[in-house]
Parts: sequence; C-alpha cells; structure tokens
Amino acid sequence: MLFKVSKEKIFYSKTPEKSIEYTEKLDKEYSKYAKAYDIAVKLLPVWKTWIKAVIPYIEGNRVLEASFGTGYLLLQYANDYETYGIDFNNNMIEVAKKNLSRKGVTASLQWANVEKLPFPNSYFDTIVNTMAFSGYPSGNRAMAEFYRVLKENGRLLIVDFDYPSNRNIFGFWLTKLMESSGDTIRDISKILKNFYFEYTEEEIGGFGSVHLYIAKKLIKESSRH
Ligand SMILES: C[S@@+](CC[C@H](N)C(=O)[O-])C[C@H]1O[C@@H](n2cnc3c(N)ncnc32)[C@H](O)[C@@H]1O
Repeated sequence: MLFKVSKEKIFYSKTPEKSIEYTEKLDKEYSKYAKAYDIAVKLLPVWKTWIKAVIPYIEGNRVLEASFGTGYLLLQYANDYETYGIDFNNNMIEVAKKNLSRKGVTASLQWANVEKLPFPNSYFDTIVNTMAFSGYPSGNRAMAEFYRVLKENGRLLIVDFDYPSNRNIFGFWLTKLMESSGDTIRDISKILKNFYFEYTEEEIGGFGSVHLYIAKKLIKESSRH
C-alpha cells in the first residue's frame, strides 16, 4: 500500500554485545557535541514538543529524570518538585548545570549510569526518561533499575522512538535514521510488560515514530513479603 512499509521490514535492533564499549562510544560522541546538542534542542520546536509531552503526567513529589542531557526538560518542571537527575556524560551535566543556574532552577544533578542508579529502593514518585532509552545497551537492565527505585504505583514516563503501528513509511525511515545514528530500537512496551508495569502508549509525532509511554509500577502479589 502507498506510504506503508511491509511487515517484514519492521524488526528490532540486535542487543549490543559489548555494553561497555557501546556506552563509551556514545559517551565520546556526546562529549564532542554537548554544546551543539543544547543548541539543537533549543532550536528544534518538534523535539521540545515531544519531550515536554511527559510534563502533565508527572505525579507526586519526588521526581528523577534519568539521562537529562543538557537539561531542557528540567528547566520546565524541576522547581515544582523535589527533583533529581542523573546522566552519564560529564559535558552534558556541565551544560545542564549552567542552564539551570542561569534560570534559577534547582535540581540535584549527578553523574550515574542508568544501570546502577545511586538511590534506594522505592524512592521516587515519578521517573522521566526522554530520548534516551534507545541509547542504553540493555533495555532490561535499565528497566530493572527504574522498577527498583520507583514506589509502588509510581509513574514511569518514557518518550522514545519505535516503529509506527500503522507502518507509515516516513515514521519507519525516521526510526531507521535513529538506528543508523547508533540507537538500539527496541520493543519498549514488551519490556514494560515483562517488568510488571501497567501502561498506555501513544504515538505523539514523527509520523508515528515518537512514542509516549505512561506506565505505573505494579507489584506481583507473590513477591510481597
Ligand atoms: C539523546 S540524549 C537525550 C537528552 C534529553 N533527555 C532529551 O530528551 O533531549 C541521551 C542522553 O542519555 C545519556 N546516557 C546515555 N547512556 C547513558 C547511561 N548508560 N546512563 C545514563 N545516561 C546515559 C547521554 O549522556 C545523553 O545525555
């Protein structure tokens, strides 16, 4: 059909075999382009609109933004909550700190790997994660940490790329473009299900390739003690 790709063309990326090397490579790129990234986010209205889609769904008092980049999103909401942020790239963190201090926005920002979050179990009411999940080498290890540090019924808000459900060719190519730039395109909804999240998914832009997941952490009765 016109403007649709065939089902056979839609498949997820392979999980990177060498996770440390994968993250180090990405980290080098972000080190080079942190300032350019900051300018690009500020100038790209669609990107800003996509990532800001999480804001109305933030709940509770204590919020973590995992992989905040240069902090554009933090500027929009951090003062309204007890806000924490982690990122893996020191240059991104430096630019984010400057951005926040310039605008008088307060958040506790630190370096960390998403696979080892420096917070106790059940600590956050909401976790925000935009345009970063497909840059992690293991979706399962990242999700395990999100699950661990969220409170029961806590919210996980993710915006990231996935194939459009209607197989729109432009959305398909946008997703492929992200993959060719180093991202690992994965079935985020399947990972959410495996971790016992209840969620809704909405395609919010990019011809169906930008997805917003609003997820709630449930606890299996059998794992309560
Ligand atoms: C494309 S940027 C997204 C930034 C921002 N959230 C946004 O929506 O514009 C991806 C961010 O993920 C961070 N990141 C990549 N791997 C990470 C890891 N293993 N742990 C924590 N952050 C990581 C990068 O340093 C980078 O700041």
